[in-house]
Order: sequence, then structure tokens, then C-alpha cells
Amino acid sequence: MGGMTIWTLVLFIHLLAIAAWLGGMLFLGAVVVPSVRAHGGLRASRPLVTAVARRFGVIGGLAWVVILVTGLLMVQHRGGFDAISGTDYGRKIMEKLGLLVLAGVAVLVHSLWQGPRLRRAEEAGDEAAVARWRRMRGVLDTIVLLATLAALYLGASLSM
Ligand code: HEM
Repeated sequence: MGGMTIWTLVLFIHLLAIAAWLGGMLFLGAVVVPSVRAHGGLRASRPLVTAVARRFGVIGGLAWVVILVTGLLMVQHRGGFDAISGTDYGRKIMEKLGLLVLAGVAVLVHSLWQGPRLRRAEEAGDEAAVARWRRMRGVLDTIVLLATLAALYLGASLSM
């Protein structure tokens, strides 16, 4: 706490990366996807949707790494994991770490496993498989969003 130090800057970057990660995700889910749906659907615009997803994937991936690195740096600044373990503060930090890893894994499963299979099922015209991979997408996207929101709540509760 207190005055402006290099740690204020590190926390600022932590929060900036969280804004990019969560803001981008909300923009995709609440603006891009509904707009594409209203103009012929995701399948009809598959190349555009894939290009948008890949482009955001770079930004989101970078943001994820920055959240992690700045978080770990601040843990070091607070004396390291040993110093904070056993405290309410340390528990919240560990939970945030777990949630960030969970969100990252769900994004990887979505982009490397479920997404390509949905595209292939669409190309093959296999409607049963399309429905299945869409349900899987819904589950994965929900995990990413809820894990991120839970981590944000924990972050907010660090000082309130
Ligand atoms: C999506 C994941 C995350 C979110 C949404 C998040 C959110 C936040 C927020 C809102 C704060 C500001 C708290 C405050 O000063 O009032 C904060 C600070 C902090 N975060 Fe994160 N965080 C995330 C991941 C992480 C991870 C993975 C770590 C560590 C490995 C971490 C470690 C920290 C630390 C050490 C602070 C500084 C708290 C202090 O001033 O002592 N965060 N985070």
C-alpha cells in the first residue's frame, strides 16, 4: 500500500492484462458472436470467426501470461508463497492461481480440441457431432468466464 512505487506499476499491469483478457472475452461473447449470428450464423461466417478467434487468441494468450507473471512478481514482493501460506490473503492468491490455470486449460481445450472438431463436423455435415461439439463449447466457455469472474471477485476481496 502507500505511495507510488514500481509495485504500483506491476499491479497496474496486472489489472490492465485482466481488462484485456476479460474485456476481450465479453466483447467476443456479447458483441461479435451475436452480431455474426444475426448475419447468417457462425457456420456461414466460419473463416471470419476463425480469424477473429485466432487474432484474439494472441492477445488473450499474452494477457494470460502477463496476469500470471505480474501476480507471481507481487507474491515475491509480499515475501513469497512461504510467507503468505496459512493466511487468508495467501489462500485467496492460491485460489486465483488455480482459477487462472483452470481458465487457461479450458481455453486450450476449446481452441486445440473442441474448436477444430466442431469445424470438421460442420464440413462433414455431421449434425449430431456439430450439436455435441457446440454443447462442449458452451461448457468450456462457461468454465472460462466463471473462473475469471471468481478470480476477479477474489482479487477485489483482497483489499475489501
Ligand atoms: C484472472 C486471474 C486474476 C484476477 C482477475 C486477479 C485480480 C486481481 C485484482 C483485482 C487485484 C487488486 C487487489 C487489490 O489490490 O485490491 C489483484 C492483485 C494481486 N494479485 Fe491478482 N488476479 C488474478 C490472478 C493472479 C495470480 C495468478 C496471482 C499470483 C500467482 C495473483 C496475485 C496477485 C497479487 C500478489 C496481488 C497484489 C495484492 C497486494 O496488494 O498484496 N493474481 N489481482
